[in-house]
Amino acid sequence: MPSQRDLPQAVAPEQQSASPEQQIEQLQRQVEELQQQLLIAQKMSSVGQLASSITHEFNNILTTTINYAKMGLRHKDAATREKCFDRILSAGQRAAKITTGMLAYARSKGDRKEALDLAQVVGDVLVLCEKDLQMNRVKLQVDVLAHPMCEVNVSHVQQVVLNLVVNARQAMDGGGMLFVKVAMSDDGLMGEISVRDTGSGIPADKLPEIFKPFYTTKEADERGQGGTGLGLSFCRDVIESHKGRMRVESTVGQGTTFTLRLPLAAPASGRKSA
Ligand SMILES: Nc1ncnc2c1ncn2[C@@H]1O[C@H](COP(=O)(O)OP(=O)(O)OP(=O)(O)O)[C@@H](O)[C@H]1O
Ligand SMILES: [Mg+2]
Repeated sequence: MPSQRDLPQAVAPEQQSASPEQQIEQLQRQVEELQQQLLIAQKMSSVGQLASSITHEFNNILTTTINYAKMGLRHKDAATREKCFDRILSAGQRAAKITTGMLAYARSKGDRKEALDLAQVVGDVLVLCEKDLQMNRVKLQVDVLAHPMCEVNVSHVQQVVLNLVVNARQAMDGGGMLFVKVAMSDDGLMGEISVRDTGSGIPADKLPEIFKPFYTTKEADERGQGGTGLGLSFCRDVIESHKGRMRVESTVGQGTTFTLRLPLAAPASGRKSA
C-alpha cells in the first residue's frame, strides 16, 4: 500500500499536461474507481470469512442426501422410503436457501435502491452465517417484531449486516449469544436492525475510533489474515448514503449492540410497513 507521500506519482503523464480542472476531474474519477475496488475487496473479505463454514455445511447436506438415498434404496417399505424422501427434500431445500442467499449477496452492483422488507434482507444474510456461528459455539436468536419497508441498496445493506454479524462472532471467542432484531423505531418513522453480542465489548475510549478506516485490533493470523479495519467504515458510509443512523453501545466484558435505522420507503411506492 503506497504511503501518502507516494500518491502524487500516481498522476498519469497525460494528466500532467491537462489543465488543473481536468486533473482534478481525473483524480476524482480515480478516487471513485479505487473506492469501488475497495468496496469489492471488503465484500470478498467478509464473504471469504464464511467460505469454510459454507463448504462444511454443503458437505453435511451432501452426506445427509447420499445416506438417505442409500437407505431408501435398501428399504422397500413405503414408510421408510417416505421418511428418506422427506429428509432428502429438506436437505435440498436448505442447500437452495444457502445458494439463494449467496446469489442475492453477490448480485446487484451500482447504486440502485428498491423498497424491501428489512426482515427479508436480514434473513438472507443470516442463512449464510448460521453454520459459521454454530461452528464457533454462538447461539443465534432472531426477533422479527416488524417488517419495515425501506428504500435500500440490497447488496450494500446485506454487506453491512454481514460485517456486523462477523464482528460480533469474532468478539465472542469462547462462544456466546447473538441477538438480531428487526423492528420499527419508537417514533414509527424508521426501520431498525439491531445486532447484539455477549462478547468482549469495546472500551469507551476506543468507541470513536472504530468507524475510522483501517482501525483494527485483529492481528494477522498464521495465514496473514487479520482485519482490514474497513468493515465499520464501510457500514457507516452505506448508512449515511441511505440517510440513516448507526449507533453503538458497549460494555467491556458484557458485549456490544449496533443499531441501524433506515428511513421507510415513501408511501408513493405503494408499500406499507407492518
Ligand atoms: N461487536 C464487536 N465487539 C467488539 N469489538 C468490535 C465489535 N465490532 C467491531 N469491533 C472493534 O472495531 C474494530 C473495527 O472493526 P471493523 O469491522 O471496521 O474492522 P475489523 O473487523 O478489524 O476488520 P475487517 O472488518 O476488515 O475484518 C475491530 O477491530 C474491533 O476492535
Ligand atoms: Mg469487521
